[in-house]
Amino acid sequence: MRAVVFSRYGDESVLELTRRPAPAPAEGEILVEVMAAGVNPVDWKHREGAVRSDRPFPLGMGWDVAGVVRATVAGGPAVGEAVYGMLPLPYGGAYQELAVLPVSAAAPKPDRLSYAQAAAVPLAALTAWQALEAGGVDSGQRVLVHAGAGGVGHFAVQFARHFGAHVTATASARNLDFLSRLGVDEPIDRATTDLSTTEPFDIVLDTVGGLVQQASWRLLRPGGALITLPEPLDEAHRLPGITARRVVVAPDGQALGRIGALIDSGAVHVEVQLVLPLEEAAQAHRISKAGRVRGKLVLGF
Ligand SMILES: NC(=O)c1ccc[n+]([C@@H]2O[C@H](COP(=O)([O-])OP(=O)(O)OC[C@H]3O[C@@H](n4cnc5c(N)ncnc54)[C@H](OP(=O)(O)O)[C@@H]3O)[C@@H](O)[C@H]2O)c1
Repeated sequence: MRAVVFSRYGDESVLELTRRPAPAPAEGEILVEVMAAGVNPVDWKHREGAVRSDRPFPLGMGWDVAGVVRATVAGGPAVGEAVYGMLPLPYGGAYQELAVLPVSAAAPKPDRLSYAQAAAVPLAALTAWQALEAGGVDSGQRVLVHAGAGGVGHFAVQFARHFGAHVTATASARNLDFLSRLGVDEPIDRATTDLSTTEPFDIVLDTVGGLVQQASWRLLRPGGALITLPEPLDEAHRLPGITARRVVVAPDGQALGRIGALIDSGAVHVEVQLVLPLEEAAQAHRISKAGRVRGKLVLGF
């Protein structure tokens, strides 16, 4: 099978499109013919060595797949069924024609979506879902999503709306209309608006880290929740009375089933900025690392 792998940590040039033996599913795993693979910032972080596994080189790349089941387990999806899912971290292996994943990590592909759109969903949407759950999202709450136009952000704003929250989200000026179309109540230009003058929030979702994480503590009401994704909490800025934690996404086929139902109902839109061929995985990494993607990048096979 064709596969993108890498044999040392480094820049985009370490990515190699090659031929590898097909992976063999272990107990509890299904084999999927990959039609499209999602691209996430963790992919280039893995390539650079910031995310490491105990497996030897060459290492596979990517965690998001949409495709067709080619081998299954008792009680799993039928051979020939269209599925989508997220491989468990830290073992990549989605940028390849055949991928294995635990049956519990897959769900039926939403009917409404193409394979490319479906591959854009799992890791980013599960992150948004699990982060909001960790924050205890509830109807009527005020939720702030930083980088609301990004991969995680554009799912988070729509899920928060679905749960009945009042949603504020930050983006660059060029993405403010996009946020409105996603149902964001208060789209905020991150370059010109001082968030410290806004009414306090019940939940702040930090998808950026650094100064954004530091500033987020003071945007919360007492008893509010700060959920951060890119990096560990900077304890030096902790404020008493705020619940804070970093969420690390985990595969969850059941949640993907619920998310798929929301997508099929039309309640959640999946934004794909660009689909590139597998041969252009390095270019996909360059674009992702530049940090300006609206929605998602996908590799089509
Ligand atoms: N812990 C976990 O399990 C987990 C899971 C998923 C993701 N993550 C991490 O969370 C982060 C976000 O992931 P993602 O997939 O959403 O990334 P992404 O899609 O690449 O995010 C791109 C968006 O970020 C916005 N942005 C860039 N710089 C910004 C800044 N300084 N302030 C505010 N917004 C900024 C851009 O919006 P504008 O162009 O509108 O400014 C762009 O739309 C990454 O670091 C990723 O590794 C962690």
